[in-house]
Amino acid sequence: MSANSYDKPDFWSKKAFSEGYPARSVYKLKEMDDKFGLIKKSWRILDLGAAPGSWTTFALRMLDGNGHVTAIDLSPLAKDVKAENLSFFQGDLYAPEIRENARKLGPYNLVMCDAAPATTGNRTIDTARSSGLVELAIYYAEHMLAPGGNFVVKIFQGGDQQAHLKALRNLFESARGFKPEACRTGSFETYLVGLGKKS
Ligand SMILES: C[S@@+](CC[C@H](N)C(=O)[O-])C[C@H]1O[C@@H](n2cnc3c(N)ncnc32)[C@H](O)[C@@H]1O
Repeated sequence: MSANSYDKPDFWSKKAFSEGYPARSVYKLKEMDDKFGLIKKSWRILDLGAAPGSWTTFALRMLDGNGHVTAIDLSPLAKDVKAENLSFFQGDLYAPEIRENARKLGPYNLVMCDAAPATTGNRTIDTARSSGLVELAIYYAEHMLAPGGNFVVKIFQGGDQQAHLKALRNLFESARGFKPEACRTGSFETYLVGLGKKS
């Protein structure tokens, strides 16, 4: 599949909709799960920046009624994203009470963060805000991920990517950057992946 074909918003958004996902971003997670085996049945998963809920839906389907997903976002999930093994907290990832809610439902085996700042169009500001969210996601992983657990986080390219990778290499058996084909051509987002949290 060519990267360009992902640029046809109607096709990919319609495909996501027809497969029961509220957003096309699901294909990025699917590609990373196929490549790295991020999700295992009966795992506990923390989804940061989860709305409208396509990553959450994908995780719930992979768990198939086992395990648990804790999802957090400033915005609500799409109304049909619900399951007995899903807990959703609406709020700011930086807020102490949100962190505490997430902590109580941990520890987790996967922390995944697709959170993105509202973009201003100023690349320097947008990259710095994205970098702040990455640092925060690493904080969640450091404090709430069980040994052996996996991590994935979105980052706007540039800025502190190398410093974040260095932090991840201290925390995980392996860590690397990965840009899914499903990212729109020309988009400056990419992902950092950490596998096997060290004990
Ligand atoms: C690209 S969307 C996530 C899409 C989601 N993974 C899905 O597949 O449906 C990015 C999300 O990050 C959320 N976000 C950004 N900053 C946040 C913050 N500080 N706290 C909570 N959510 C945040 C936004 O509200 C937005 O819903």
